[in-house]
Amino acid sequence: MTCLGSWLNQHQDLERLDRELLICEAMRMTRAQVLARPETPLPAAAHRDLNEWARRLRDGEPLAYLLGRREFWGLTLNVCDAVLVPRPETELLVELALAQIRPGDRVLDLGTGSGAIAIAVASSTGGAAQVTGSDNSMAALAVASENGRALDTQVRWISSNWLDALPGPFELILSNPPYIAENDPHLAALGHEPQAALTAGPDGLDAFRHIVPDALQRLSSGGWLMLEHGYQQGEQVRRLMRQAGLLAIETLTDLAGHERVTRGRRA
Ligand SMILES: C[S@@+](CC[C@H](N)C(=O)[O-])C[C@H]1O[C@@H](n2cnc3c(N)ncnc32)[C@H](O)[C@@H]1O
Repeated sequence: MTCLGSWLNQHQDLERLDRELLICEAMRMTRAQVLARPETPLPAAAHRDLNEWARRLRDGEPLAYLLGRREFWGLTLNVCDAVLVPRPETELLVELALAQIRPGDRVLDLGTGSGAIAIAVASSTGGAAQVTGSDNSMAALAVASENGRALDTQVRWISSNWLDALPGPFELILSNPPYIAENDPHLAALGHEPQAALTAGPDGLDAFRHIVPDALQRLSSGGWLMLEHGYQQGEQVRRLMRQAGLLAIETLTDLAGHERVTRGRRA
């Protein structure tokens, strides 16, 4: 019978951490146990599951879809192929939002997907803010509301094409919208995630063009709009915010030093 160590060795083309996490899942072991006991025999059923998961990883499926969950902001979120896998760089948007929120603020997460941003904000403010998460995908909203329930957070979930069904006002509007150009070569590696969560027109800016002017109308006076964007889109997003009439516009960088979030304030 194959043991854990030899399975790890046989699949060295896959990331070591991914292989270890799959074994943890198949064998209900911690990583420390997997590392400490490589001689543990792999039962036939676990071996079959592992080989099938290895095949799916090679096919480009994200590990988070195989495991059905992903950590974000220290919270475990359920994910499936109806939602984007939350990315670590999006935690910058949460961090900036939390620095801004005052008790009683109405906060909107536009294009909430798995609910990652809305749930992180609601969980960290402990009910002090009134948080709404919206999406135009009913499948995504089902995942988000289930995550909100599982993590015992108070978030209002609303189906809306961007701001159409959201009259506001909000003190804070957050969004990590789709921002990849339709013909971007990087899309080939993201084929398992929903296209509507990734792409926004020929230059990747269509969602920003839609959101920025409408968000300004829904902000309370002095309210903030904060948008995550691609690392080369800061200039264009700042320009859209300036054209719409937002003030105090600035772009913040992520841990890798890339322009990642642009914010602006209503007068
Ligand atoms: C990049 S994903 C972000 C998901 C999540 N907020 C996160 O950061 O992990 C963009 C989200 O916007 C949603 N979306 C795309 N077009 C939309 C539209 N017209 N109206 C509302 N939501 C939309 C997608 O369904 C997707 O969930």
